[in-house]
Amino acid sequence: MRFTTVAVTISFVAAACFQAASDKAILQPHNVIAGMFKGITYSPFSGSGVALQNSEIEKHMTTMCSLTERIRLYSADGDLAAKVFTALNKVCPGMEVIYGLWHDPAQPDRLRQDKKAFLQTMDDDSNRKRVTHVTVGNESVMKAITANGDVAAVVSTITSTIGEVRSHWASRKWGNILVGTVDIDTTYYSHPALVEAVDFVGINIQPKFTDQVFTTGTDAAVWSFSKYGEIVSKLATKKPIVVTEIGYPTKDKTMLRNFVNALLTGASEQGIDYCYFEFKDAGFKSGDEATYGLFDSAGLQPKFQFNTAGQTVKSNIG
Ligand SMILES: *[C@@H]1O[C@H](CO)[C@@H](O)[C@H](O)[C@H]1NC(C)=O
Repeated sequence: MRFTTVAVTISFVAAACFQAASDKAILQPHNVIAGMFKGITYSPFSGSGVALQNSEIEKHMTTMCSLTERIRLYSADGDLAAKVFTALNKVCPGMEVIYGLWHDPAQPDRLRQDKKAFLQTMDDDSNRKRVTHVTVGNESVMKAITANGDVAAVVSTITSTIGEVRSHWASRKWGNILVGTVDIDTTYYSHPALVEAVDFVGINIQPKFTDQVFTTGTDAAVWSFSKYGEIVSKLATKKPIVVTEIGYPTKDKTMLRNFVNALLTGASEQGIDYCYFEFKDAGFKSGDEATYGLFDSAGLQPKFQFNTAGQTVKSNIG
């Protein structure tokens, strides 16, 4: 892999995008979030759940490019993921992608369609070179366990799909790709076959969805780091671990800002690989879950000022 540094003028891009913010209160210095995110998750749907247009996706990718060097997608979503790649090829040469294949046992066609769309998108070199990781399923095994479903069948579909993706790469001599799934920690402990099957362990850590009560954002981040430490020691695997989701609802802005700042600093000090959840609010969800966005549902208005001045986006493209 060849690494070059793309001279993306982050401060300029960020400044242009924050001028759009009408709420001056959010631009107070105490609301500054300092630094770049290791990764950010993205769903190409509007606040009401409608598929986004090219122009909207392109705007989001321009912003993304100023905040992170990697995005995580959950699904091919028809041609939506392909549109994300098209936008990235236009506005963000250095962005890497963690690509997700959707798996839901109740919709077997969905995985077939996702695979097909994914492999088509990967036939284009400029798309494929962005993809570092592929995930099959988003907490699918946990969902099957909770619903008392056919857990063995889900594990088997996931592991065989992982194998298919790997052999597709191998047969075309496309080089390295890390293929795995995304689930919560306890699922991996109860299903060691999953750890066996993956190239990397994708784990969601969501401090809000635990029994813990946090009074500060820093506490929530510190708890997340100790959870990560526990995962590392319990898994005892040499395979890389990616925290595929970590975030906090944004109702309490002070708490969120402290959480994000502690996360950015601590994760970088401790070498934790993560994707921040998520780029924008999901208006189509309910309660706290709708409010995890770093931006509003339209993906335009930032909840904070991001101070990424002087940082550049790494590129392995070309
Ligand atoms: C993936 O699962 C996580 C955890 O349940 C959830 O927060 C996220 O919204 C899911 N992604 C999608 C696209 O449904």
